[in-house]
Amino acid sequence: MDIHSLICSLTCHHKRSVPFVLLCLTFVLTGCRDQPSTDVSSQLVDKQSVTYKEKYRPQLHFSPPSGWMNDPNGLVYFEGEYHLFYQYYPNDIQWDTMHWGHAVSQDLVHWENLPIAIYPDDLGCIFSGSAVIDWNNTTGFGDGSGPPMVAIFTQHHFDKEKAGTNDHQTQSIAYSLDKGRTWEMYDGNPVIGNDGIRDFRDPKVRWHEPSSKWIMTLAVGDHIRFYASPDLKDWAFLSSFGENVGNHGGVWECPDLFPMSVEHQEEEKWVLLVSINPGQPNGGSGTQYFVGTFDGKTFVPDEPIQEKWLDGGKDNYAGVTWSDLPQGQGPIYIGWMSNWQYAQRVPASTWRSPMTLPRKLELLREEGDYWLTSQPISKMNQLRQEAVTFSRGDLQTEYDLIKSINEKTGLYEVHLEFQKPPSGRIAVELYNGVGETFSFGYDVDQNEYFMDRLSAGDGSFSDEFNGFHVAPCYYEPETIQMQLYIDKTSIEMFADEGRTVMTDIFFPSEEYTDFVIRIDQPVHMLRSRLYSLNPVW
Ligand code: FRU
Repeated sequence: MDIHSLICSLTCHHKRSVPFVLLCLTFVLTGCRDQPSTDVSSQLVDKQSVTYKEKYRPQLHFSPPSGWMNDPNGLVYFEGEYHLFYQYYPNDIQWDTMHWGHAVSQDLVHWENLPIAIYPDDLGCIFSGSAVIDWNNTTGFGDGSGPPMVAIFTQHHFDKEKAGTNDHQTQSIAYSLDKGRTWEMYDGNPVIGNDGIRDFRDPKVRWHEPSSKWIMTLAVGDHIRFYASPDLKDWAFLSSFGENVGNHGGVWECPDLFPMSVEHQEEEKWVLLVSINPGQPNGGSGTQYFVGTFDGKTFVPDEPIQEKWLDGGKDNYAGVTWSDLPQGQGPIYIGWMSNWQYAQRVPASTWRSPMTLPRKLELLREEGDYWLTSQPISKMNQLRQEAVTFSRGDLQTEYDLIKSINEKTGLYEVHLEFQKPPSGRIAVELYNGVGETFSFGYDVDQNEYFMDRLSAGDGSFSDEFNGFHVAPCYYEPETIQMQLYIDKTSIEMFADEGRTVMTDIFFPSEEYTDFVIRIDQPVHMLRSRLYSLNPVW
C-alpha cells in the first residue's frame, strides 16, 4: 500500500489523540528503531485481561490478543505446527512500527499465541514476507540439531522514506533453530538492497526443485519481480511480470507463486496471487490471481488474460499460502479480514482485525479457462455442535431458518441449496432485535452473488464501509449452493463449491443470532443444513 497516505491517514485520524501524535513524532524522529523489550504487548493491555470474549471478538477466527494486526506473514508448517506470523504493532490498535507477531496451531482451527518473533532493528521495521524450512541447510545457519526455519521479509526504514531517496525498502532474512520461538537476524542483511524503487516489498520464497534454487516473488510497484538464490543470501534477478497485465488500480503487494495440479486432469499450472490496494471491484484492497507457466525463470500467463479475483467480498486482503505442508495437503491460504479503506477505523477496543478462515485452494479448468476455488478446510467440521436438516420443499416468501435450533450461539455453518428459479433473488437476512440486518444471496438476473451491509450496524466510521457488494459468477450455475460461516463480526460465503467466494465484516449493535430466507417468488429448496458451532477460543 502507499505508505505515505497510510501515515497521513494515521496522523489525521489521531488528531484527537495527543499521546498517539507524540508517539508518531517520536517514531518519525527516531526512524524505525524502537527498542525491543521482553514483553511489549503488556504495555497495551494486561495479558490476564485478554479473555477472547470481548465485544466484537471473533470466535471462529484468529485475532491478536491485543494491538494492531494486518497481513499474515511467514506461513510455514514444521514438526506438527502451522505457524502464523503476522504484521503486528503491539503498542496501539493503529498501524505503526511493524513487528512479526506469532501464533501456532496444530489444526489451523485452534491457536496458541506466542511472544513477538521478529523486532525492528537499524535497517527498519519488519514488513511482510515469508518463511521456509531450509531442509538442506543451504544457508549454513543450521547447527546440526535440525533444519533452520528462515524468514525472508522487507525492512522499511522510515527516516530514509522521509528523506525521499526511495531506497527505504530492502529485503532481509532471519533464522530460528528452535521451531520459530527465537530468531537471529542474519549479519549480512540486507540480502537485496534497493537502488531507488519506492515500493519494493513482500518477498514470498519457495524451493524450486528443477533448478535447485530458491525463488523469490517480490512486489515492485506495478509489477512482480522474480529472483533466484542457491542459499537465500545471494539473489540474482530473473525476470519481471505484470506491468501491463491485470488490474492496476493501485500498488501491487504481497504476491505468492505456487504450482497446482488441475482438478480431474493430469496437468500442472502455476498460480500467481497479487494483492492490490486499491483496485478491487467493490472498492479498496483485494487479491487478483493469474494462472500460467513458470520455468524457473519466467512466469507466462495463459491467454486470454481475464481479470480474476480470489474473493469477491470486501474484506480479504494480503493472503498467501503455507509453505512446507505435508505431501497432499496444499495449498492452504489465509488472508487478513479487512480492507485498507477503513481498517484503522473499524470499532475496536484493545486489538484490531482478524484473519479469514484458512482455506483450501483448488484449480479447475472450466469454460475454457482456469479458475481458483477456495473452500474452508475440513478441520473446521470439528466445531459442529447442533445440526438441523431442512427438508426439501417449496418456499413461498420467507422461511425462518433458525426456528428449530435449540441454542442460538451466533456461530453458524450453513449449507443452502436451491433449484435455480427463472428470475429474481434469493436472499438470506441475518437480523437482531434492534432492526439491523445483513443480507446475502444470489441474483438470478445478474448471475451474481451479493452481500448487503447497508443497514448492518455501525458503519459511521467510514463512508466506504456501508455498501452493497457483488461477485459475478463466471458460469451459469445449475443449482444455487452456498456454504457460509457466520461469526460475531463476519461472514464468509463459499458458493458453488468455492467458485465464488465473498468475505465481509460487520459491526451490529446486538449480535446476529437469527436469520431468515427471503425470496421474491417461490423457490424449491434442496439439501440444506445448519450447524451451530463451538467457539475456538
Ligand atoms: C499490505 C502491506 C504490505 C506491507 C505491509 C506493511 O497490507 O502494505 O505491502 O509489507 O502491509 O504493514
